[in-house]
Amino acid sequence: MKVAIGCDHIVTDIKNHIKEYLENKGFEVVDCGTYDFERTHYPIYGKRVAEKVVTGECDLGVVMCGTGVGITNAVQKVKGARCALVGDVAAAKYAKEVLDCNVIGVGGRVSGVGAIEDIMDAYFSTEYNKTPENDALISKINNLIDRTDYIGDNHFFDEFLEKWDRGEYHD
Ligand code: RB5
Repeated sequence: MKVAIGCDHIVTDIKNHIKEYLENKGFEVVDCGTYDFERTHYPIYGKRVAEKVVTGECDLGVVMCGTGVGITNAVQKVKGARCALVGDVAAAKYAKEVLDCNVIGVGGRVSGVGAIEDIMDAYFSTEYNKTPENDALISKINNLIDRTDYIGDNHFFDEFLEKWDRGEYHD
């Protein structure tokens, strides 16, 4: 599996550590930068990682900045990227299993290195649970990027509320 990884200058050392961690597990890792501690800006690297994934050059992506907030926000704006900022193993599993996230993000200054390693293990060992419900929800969320007609429509997600009412969700 080919994994794109990217970070800003705040967490380059942690990115390098996680890159090596993943390589030791057998992943091919494409380092999208940044490569040193010179001040830069996280959207550059979020965009790079997302592009590697949505073009199919890489299978999945990992991003990090200080909090993880900035870089994941940038990734999420690239069409085709499905990114989650996670701080624990349960969220990492959920991101892959239910939302088929193709990029995972962490805050290198707010999560410990051990926790980030565990998050990587959880994310990469979890498979997307491809059910009609999960597919439909992801597709509905994806629609938000292509359309504007839902603005002001407070019923855009009603079909999902109706599913709750019919007892079709079990979580
Ligand atoms: C530094 O630019 C810092 O703001 C960044 O790493 C991150 O924490 C933002 O979410």
